[in-house]
Amino acid sequence: MTTDASASPAARPPSLPVKPRIFSGIQPTGRPHLGNDLGAIRNYVALQDKAATEGREAIYCVVDYHALTHVHDPELMGRQILEMAAALIALGLDPKRCTLFVQSDRPEVTELAWLFNTVTPVGWLMRTPTYKEKRLNQPEDVNTGLLTYPVLQAADIVLYKAALVPIGRDQAPHLELSREIVRAFNARYGETFPEPQAVYTEAPTVLGTDGSKKMSKSIGNTIEILGEPDLIRKQVMSMVTDTQRIMRSDPGRPEVCNVCQMHRHFGADYQEIWEGERTARTGCVDTKKLLAERIIAHYAGAREAYKELTADPKRLRAILDEGAERIRPIAEATMAEVRERMGLR
Ligand code: TYM
Repeated sequence: MTTDASASPAARPPSLPVKPRIFSGIQPTGRPHLGNDLGAIRNYVALQDKAATEGREAIYCVVDYHALTHVHDPELMGRQILEMAAALIALGLDPKRCTLFVQSDRPEVTELAWLFNTVTPVGWLMRTPTYKEKRLNQPEDVNTGLLTYPVLQAADIVLYKAALVPIGRDQAPHLELSREIVRAFNARYGETFPEPQAVYTEAPTVLGTDGSKKMSKSIGNTIEILGEPDLIRKQVMSMVTDTQRIMRSDPGRPEVCNVCQMHRHFGADYQEIWEGERTARTGCVDTKKLLAERIIAHYAGAREAYKELTADPKRLRAILDEGAERIRPIAEATMAEVRERMGLR
């Protein structure tokens, strides 16, 4: 049976899209932080724009099923789904030029994830660094979803046969696992899915305000780019700088200072700012104040757009419904092909 099943479908031509599709997902965890934007969302927008000129599809998803592994408050979940959708649009996603939808509005993905479970050795999942990390972060709630999380992520991507995945570096182990799952599936049932590839920005890992760990809401070291200016000021002023620069007159080391590194993304004059630090012409406080004002100014338009969008949940819901409908034919075609390859009818 196994030999037959793997031999015959392999001969079929793969039904891959001519131009590789783009796909990425983000959890509905409230307003995005600077790490989300510099590490991933900027690339969602850049790839959406590129895709629009090249006639290919860019698909972005608010992954509520994934968030259920740690968000258990239904009211909060509903609100945060809409907030994340609003934030993505405010930061530059244009629902006319890309598809924006909510993961659970295209439930085919759960079927594909189950089918992928059957080609994924449990050892691969147990070894995933993010599983080990999450198990430690929420020891009182080590649900099965934490273990099979990357299988659902693989299904997210290839349900749409997407091959380019803009993500931050923290998602690299998940993407590698997606590739392995695709290889395992293709080897057993014939060439069906493309192997997805990560697309990184120039800031694939953004450190948090502590200057040592990756910026993350669960650690509480974030800069909330769509927050009120005073909140941004407070968060930026709390940033750890070069720990060896004790006195104001000590020369700074911009290469290791997180504040200096962030200036790279908020002005072409960052080299001058670095020079000021190196020569102790400027102090850490000056550099932080400047960074806070630049972040506030950079996201001012997005902050206003976010406020308007969140005030109109009906409009947001309509955009998301339209997105889920638009990609229904792709999801249905993939599932029909997969079921046939696996002998399910
Ligand atoms: P999530 O919601 O944690 O993060 C969304 C995106 O932001 C990036 N990111 C960062 N990049 C650089 N520095 C940081 N400090 C930082 N923090 C977050 C993440 O790398 C990510 O790209 N499992 C995913 C969601 C997901 C997904 C997918 C992604 C579900 N299905 C399919 C791609 C394709 C996650 O939890 O991302």
